Amino acid sequence: MGFNKRTHTCGELLPDDSGKAVILNGWVSKKRNLGGILFIDLRDRYGLTQLKISPDKADLYKIASGIGTEFVITASGKVIIRESVNKNIPTGYIEIDVDNIEILNESLVTPFVIEEDVKAAEELRLQYRYLDLRRKKVMDNIILRNKVYQIVHEYFAVHGFAEVETPVLMKSTPEGARDYLVPSRVHKGKFYALPQSPQTYKQILMVSGLDKYVQICKCFRDEDLRADRQPEFTQIDIEMSFVEQEDIFNISEGLYSRIWKDVLGVELKTPFNRICYDDAVSIYGSDKPDMRISGLMKIRDITDCVKSTDFKVFSEAIESGGIVAGIKINSADAKNSKIEITRKIVDNYTEFVKKSGFSGLAVIKADENGQLQSSLLKFLNEEVINNIKSDFNIIPKDTIFVLSGNKSKVLAGLGQLRVKIAEDFNLLDANAYSFTWITDFPLFKYDEEEQRFAGEHHVFTSPKDEFMKYLDSNNREEIESIRANCYDLVLNGSEIGSGSIRIHNSDTQKKVFNIIGLTDEEAIEKFGFILEAFRYGAPPHGGVAFGFDRIIATLCGTKSIRDVIAFPKTVSAASLMDSCPSHVSRQQLDDIGLSLKT
Ligand code: AMO
Repeated sequence: MGFNKRTHTCGELLPDDSGKAVILNGWVSKKRNLGGILFIDLRDRYGLTQLKISPDKADLYKIASGIGTEFVITASGKVIIRESVNKNIPTGYIEIDVDNIEILNESLVTPFVIEEDVKAAEELRLQYRYLDLRRKKVMDNIILRNKVYQIVHEYFAVHGFAEVETPVLMKSTPEGARDYLVPSRVHKGKFYALPQSPQTYKQILMVSGLDKYVQICKCFRDEDLRADRQPEFTQIDIEMSFVEQEDIFNISEGLYSRIWKDVLGVELKTPFNRICYDDAVSIYGSDKPDMRISGLMKIRDITDCVKSTDFKVFSEAIESGGIVAGIKINSADAKNSKIEITRKIVDNYTEFVKKSGFSGLAVIKADENGQLQSSLLKFLNEEVINNIKSDFNIIPKDTIFVLSGNKSKVLAGLGQLRVKIAEDFNLLDANAYSFTWITDFPLFKYDEEEQRFAGEHHVFTSPKDEFMKYLDSNNREEIESIRANCYDLVLNGSEIGSGSIRIHNSDTQKKVFNIIGLTDEEAIEKFGFILEAFRYGAPPHGGVAFGFDRIIATLCGTKSIRDVIAFPKTVSAASLMDSCPSHVSRQQLDDIGLSLKT
């Protein structure tokens, strides 16, 4: 069955088009009757155009009266200037005086109203994702995502990179998150894994001499989900041979400069900020500090200046090897809002730190005259108070928040508190984009639960030359002190990328495997293919992978990556639209030689 094909989209007719005969196709967004005249807002991906149907065209009026919301229709008519203008949309100055209308398809009453300011719960919208995608805001995110795809492909083509697809069925390598497993029918009892990232393949492509690899690829991780984590997500994955960290930074900064300019019209300042991991953690309490607040609330370790106190909370922390540290905020720090640390706010922040396992939050305030006020003062002697005053350079209207305990816990606690304060008092400029490289990560982290080392980034990351000697050490402190040629890219407090210069020598690689607890035999069983590949002339190489969804979310001004993925999963890794995961038949299980435990 044919239909009248559109001459224009619903987003393009302007006053200059008045008098034109046009045909539009689309969905009925809204229908209203004003004094006998029917008005229909016709919607497509490009916009909204108002259709006007007068009662004097009786046949037409009858058809139009039977049209419901979300029906698909075709309408022809003449562009006329509107009497009551809608200045909010470009097409709001014209309407179509309809002379013919045809229903192309009807629609059931939708389970929620498709409107920009949507009221329906996210679960319902995810169940009917195709309807939610009809909302301009959501569709625009997907279209923006597409634009960034194009930029990325073109940028890397211009720079001589080759796009290579890597397998989605691969060997399970137990590192990082849990693998999604795929049972093999042919090799019963054996499994493929979905790639957590194409890490091994891209390194092997370097051994093959590909030199410059890029891929926009899907990665799969069975891990706890959050607003910025999906079980399947997309990376811009990059690997290069004969390069140093600086080369990776250059190519990446060029990419972001292009994207930000083309999508937002924003010129980024390069080179990006850099801060080493140790400084990031000790000054900002995080390896992904939001540098929009870099000048404020830097963490100060005051362990030394309070060590003579007999205030138990502090002294016990110090005795057991912990620290005392704090941050300070002044009521003049906010440009656009007022910072007043009331009793209620203190209670609120105390509850906040308690969630991270602290028994309390020590607060010291300076009044207008610089006089200190705190329930803590009675426990602190003169010397300690003076030390705190000078260490924090206290001025009138300062407030100091102090935590004590295990060093990394205190730093992380203060790091979270400073972000919360910044959010609460509007200290974060929503229109600023602060890109920062975090460099020199530790090579290993110690997993207290499993009592073993794991790769802080991943096991293919190379140690810095000066730490190579510790690869033969058995001493925990020495191993923990090893710093790596490893970097993250952080944007406004979100980790948008991670990478490293790799190990390209199989002996070094084996030593790293040994430290994470793999014997030579286990290393060969699990990673033998890459160890072997390295024996056939592996070039020095390195790379990085960027979280595509997180980049798009920032560009779209949303915190949840679900908003920028066409068909996202919930935080429990379910797809509500097609009810997945789902049960499979007995036959399907038999085919792959599996039975379920009940
Ligand atoms: P990494 O594991 O750090 O590195 O991942 C790189 C970037 O991917 C994004 N990311 C995620 N985004 C959404 N949902 C998730 N579950 C998720 N997990 C990670 C983050 C992160 O910075 N192969 C290495 C890279 C390399 O060394 O080249 C890797 O995958 O933005």
